Amino acid sequence: MSDVEVSAPGRAGRAGRRVEVGKLEEFPVGKFRILKVESREIGVIRMENGEVHAVLNRCPHKGAPVCKGIVGGTWPPSDVGKLDFEREGRVLTCPWHGFEFDIDTGYEVYQERPARLKKFKTDVEAGTVVITI
Ligand code: FES
Repeated sequence: MSDVEVSAPGRAGRAGRRVEVGKLEEFPVGKFRILKVESREIGVIRMENGEVHAVLNRCPHKGAPVCKGIVGGTWPPSDVGKLDFEREGRVLTCPWHGFEFDIDTGYEVYQERPARLKKFKTDVEAGTVVITI
């Protein structure tokens, strides 16, 4: 079985095409579910706080299927002898070269000239997740 699921075609709108991609409970907390939406692969994740994010499954660095990376936290620069860990569950680490992306903003966390994930607007309407592409 493919790990990419196919969703229904969307409805056209002025601000973009709205696509219903499934019931909220179909999206596990803290893990991307990758959908094929028309010609795009989009990863949808439900966060612990109930937010839903949708991300193009293509890393802005070299094109890896970034949504197959690890969702976790990050170790920011810190003083010698001190190790901090933060943003648990809010950072996506690319499976190819380890760039870390903030799931909230899409920005790469530590690069001098940060790249950014392509994100899509999401809404939950009557328990259904809707993405605007
Ligand atoms: S392709 Fe994602 S970090 Fe290089």
